[in-house]
Amino acid sequence: MSSAGNNPLIRIAGLHKGYRSGNRVLPVLQDLDLEVHPGEFVVILGISGSGKTTLLNLIGGIDRADRGTLGVCGVSLPGASETDLARFRRDHIGFVFQSYNLLPTLTARENVEAALEVTRIYGRRMARLRADEFLTAVGLADKAAAFPAELSGGEQQRVAVARALAKEPPLVLADEPTGNLDSETGAEIWDLMHRLRRKSGAAFLVVTHDPRAASLADRVFTIVKGYLQPTTPVD
Ligand SMILES: Nc1ncnc2c1ncn2[C@@H]1O[C@H](COP(=O)(O)OP(=O)(O)OP(=O)(O)O)[C@@H](O)[C@H]1O
Ligand SMILES: [Mg+2]
Repeated sequence: MSSAGNNPLIRIAGLHKGYRSGNRVLPVLQDLDLEVHPGEFVVILGISGSGKTTLLNLIGGIDRADRGTLGVCGVSLPGASETDLARFRRDHIGFVFQSYNLLPTLTARENVEAALEVTRIYGRRMARLRADEFLTAVGLADKAAAFPAELSGGEQQRVAVARALAKEPPLVLADEPTGNLDSETGAEIWDLMHRLRRKSGAAFLVVTHDPRAASLADRVFTIVKGYLQPTTPVD
C-alpha cells in the first residue's frame, strides 16, 4: 500500500467545515487537527450533531472541507477531482455505515464480492474465495446465500464489516457500527474488528457511543464545539 514507515495515515491540520443555513454558515468542525498512524484504533465520541459523521465523510472523501490540510493514505483530498476521490475510496477506504447499506437484491456473498470486484484487483474466482473467507471470519459461512432481508440486524452488520475489510484497506471508517445492536452482538463486532485489525494491520477510525469500544481503543477523542479533545475512556 502507498503509506510506508512511520508516516501518518491520516494527517489533518486546521480543518474547517460548516453548513450553509439560509444566509448563515453554521460551523461544525473548527480548526481540527488529528494524526492517525497505520494500525491504530482510534475512537471518536461526541453528542448527537457534534460533527462525527461529518468528520468521517471528510476523511473518506465523501464530502469536502471548507479549508485545511487533509491528507489520507498519501492523497491530498482538497486537491483531488471527483474521479480521484472515487478511486481513493475504492483503493484505500473500507466504510462501515450505521445503516449497513447492503444492496438488497444481492446475497450476503454477492455484497462482499461486489466490493472486491470494483477494485479490479480480484477476478471473479478470487472475489468468491475472499468473500467466503471473510464471511466465515464474521461467523456467517452458513448465511452466504441469504439476502439482507433474510438476515437479522446484527448479521447484516457483520456482512457490512466483512464487505469493508475483505479488500484489506489500510483505513477502515466505521460510523456507530454497533448502534443498532444488542450489547452481546456489539461485543462480537468489536472483537471481530480487533481480530481483523491484527490480521490485516489496518487502521480503524470509529465513531461510537459504546464504552466497550472506547476502552479497547489506542486513543479516544471527543468532538466538543467543533474541536477534537483527547479523552480518557471510562469503563
Ligand atoms: N448536508 C448537511 N447540510 C446541512 N447541515 C448538515 C448536513 N450534514 C450535517 N449537518 C449538520 O451538521 C451538524 C453535524 O452533523 P453530523 O451528522 O456530523 O453529526 P453527528 O455527530 O454524526 O450526530 P449523530 O450522533 O446524531 O449521528 C448537525 O448540526 C447537522 O444538522
Ligand atoms: Mg452521525
